[in-house]
Amino acid sequence: MMPTAINYQDKIPNNVDLSGDRRLQRALEGWQPRFMNWWAEMGPALQTQDVYLRTAVSVGRDGWAHFGHVAPEEYRWGIFLAERDPDRRIAFGEHQGEPVWQQVPGEYRADLQRLIVVQGDTEPASVEQQRLLGLTAPSLYDLRNLFQVNVEEGRHLWAMVYLLHAYFGREGREEAEALLHRNSGSPDSPRILGAFNEETADWLAFYMFTYFTDRDGKYQLGTLKESAFDPLSRTCEFMLKEEAHHMFVGTTGVDRVVRRSAELIREHDTLDIGPHGGIPLEIIQKYLNFHYSVSLDLFGSETSTNAANYYTAGLKGRWQETRRKDDHRLTEDSVLLDKPTAEGTWQQEELPALLALNLDLRQEYIADCASGVKRWNKILAEHGIDFRFALPHPGFNRRVGVGAGFHVTPDGTIVDERTWEAGRSHWLPTSEDLTFVRSLMHPVYERGKIASWVAPPRNGINGKPFDYQYVHLA
Ligand SMILES: [Fe+2]
Ligand SMILES: [Fe+2]
Repeated sequence: MMPTAINYQDKIPNNVDLSGDRRLQRALEGWQPRFMNWWAEMGPALQTQDVYLRTAVSVGRDGWAHFGHVAPEEYRWGIFLAERDPDRRIAFGEHQGEPVWQQVPGEYRADLQRLIVVQGDTEPASVEQQRLLGLTAPSLYDLRNLFQVNVEEGRHLWAMVYLLHAYFGREGREEAEALLHRNSGSPDSPRILGAFNEETADWLAFYMFTYFTDRDGKYQLGTLKESAFDPLSRTCEFMLKEEAHHMFVGTTGVDRVVRRSAELIREHDTLDIGPHGGIPLEIIQKYLNFHYSVSLDLFGSETSTNAANYYTAGLKGRWQETRRKDDHRLTEDSVLLDKPTAEGTWQQEELPALLALNLDLRQEYIADCASGVKRWNKILAEHGIDFRFALPHPGFNRRVGVGAGFHVTPDGTIVDERTWEAGRSHWLPTSEDLTFVRSLMHPVYERGKIASWVAPPRNGINGKPFDYQYVHLA
């Protein structure tokens, strides 16, 4: 059994008995200063004395988080895996029922390495995307949450780098270097996935990103948590605990923007609340359309032989694989996929379920996304406002999958390019919208104060009040 207590004596805090493997320890200690350089260069631009942060102290069910003021550059990034279940067996695919793997089988080495690199690449990317947000935080509470998300994405990078170093030899170490070399939006060496090369330019975008894009992360990690490669599974299980807070920041962040906009609409009896320092609901809807559609691209093509092969091999399962009531092999099953046609209609195609695993995951994700929209609409209803938010059709604004190359409106109508371009400014944020939202972004760093465009949170962090000194600025 792995020890669950985290060793903070080591240079790299860990619960994987790192000091018992000198070679690995030295290799990771060699990577550590490069990570710190990356954090200094590409991490938060705002300098702080300290931030009220949560740090993992054990991975057990209770009490894994410790709160205290720490300087972000002194945050103890480390390697934490969930506890090992000695009886764990492979839940799906052709190896179903066999004991899980503690080492990488040679035949799956390249595929597993690729899965880890793609996941790992997203973690530092989001820190890079959010780099400038600290300069315009609407409150100290929000500033603290930004730092919390950023240090944990940094830790998720550590988690993936540990796997690469520990299980993939020289190639793994090279990939670990490349994870610091690629940068979000870089013309020469961009991040692997499109959504992670878009800048997160303002705080509404940050809330949308943590709602929609971190939620994609939750679903991807959920499939890797099912992996037959046990160290990957245990790594993802612990990452998911931290990820929950990122989505909380997104859900409640959008809540608070909607609430503030609703208050201003009532107060001034107009939807045109821009002049009163609020974000109009239609701009919020356009941000939603953008972040949702680029996040759907992260699920890949609806049909994928790679996904089928990963499943059959046991590398990557389905969301909540063990709770599903089927044979966990899917060789006999089929599903229906809506496909756009050149005639401008949607046509259902029957597909082998194995080929449509990306679609299966995306559908779980879409159902989850809908719960936020329901919350936000409830706030509008409570304020007696008729406007309602909606998720656009999955074919809208897509660059990946069956919708790519088609022009689909938010309500799912297939139109020609000219019609779509004419509608674009009603569906996606225009440069005027972005400029307007950016004009509202001023830092509010006074204790207990908050910007005009967002409501304060209902509760503070870890039982502290909203007006707590969450951050000491440098
Ligand atoms: Fe993450
Ligand atoms: Fe995250």
